[in-house]
Amino acid sequence: MTKRARIVAGNWKMNMTYPQGRDLTLQIVNSLQPSETVVVLCPPFIHLQNTYTAITGISNLHLGGQNCHEAEKGAFTGEVSVDMLASCGCKFVILGHSERREYFGESDTLLAQKIDRVLEANLTPIFCCGEPLAIREENTQDAYVAEQIKNSLFHLSADQLKKIVIAYEPIWAIGTGKTASPEQAQEMHHYLRSLIAKQYSDELAQSIPILYGGSVKPANALELFSQPDVDGGLVGGASLKAEDFMSIINSSNKALDA
Ligand code: 13P
Repeated sequence: MTKRARIVAGNWKMNMTYPQGRDLTLQIVNSLQPSETVVVLCPPFIHLQNTYTAITGISNLHLGGQNCHEAEKGAFTGEVSVDMLASCGCKFVILGHSERREYFGESDTLLAQKIDRVLEANLTPIFCCGEPLAIREENTQDAYVAEQIKNSLFHLSADQLKKIVIAYEPIWAIGTGKTASPEQAQEMHHYLRSLIAKQYSDELAQSIPILYGGSVKPANALELFSQPDVDGGLVGGASLKAEDFMSIINSSNKALDA
């Protein structure tokens, strides 16, 4: 069976002033040990340059953007292009986060364009999907998430799709302290893999890292990451405290060793 990458990514969202971000990065750099877990820091854009300088030379620590525009460049005031991210050392870009979908009106179609742009620039999209609470309560989450995946990813060739990381983030679990149970996460991750297997191949489905996001914290990370189809986490609030984030990375390493 293909060995999938293990990834723990910290999505700082719109948090951390410049000095706070610099301190957090230094704390992580100073405590991170070499391991097979790929760690990705996704700070706000103003931190990219400094964070990149701080993490350069650490082989398992990478930088990611939280979003980018779908155009190559141009008159789009306030936006950031993927080439700009790449030039600051980013290897990853989060796309389709539920906060971007909800507060900035990002549609599946727009996200398909962003995915294309990011792949063209040879960066790795971390594509987020996940259902709101009402959908979970009526137990139609599989169909809901399948639409997001089909509409934004299934135009890709197999060679393109294999460069993607997926993050399943149920909206009802984001920032609420309410985590999906390990069983719920595993069930959805397994379902996502089965969709990819049906459309492409089982080999491809088995090779794509699928991260879980939504109130991942030191107390629940190991159990979540120990599920067979959960390949790590996309962490919000707990990535803002070096101690918590390091503990989550250690849980990923433990799940790998198990
Ligand atoms: P929390 O970990 O704060 O719930 O956020 C999850 C998330 O949205 C990561 O992208």
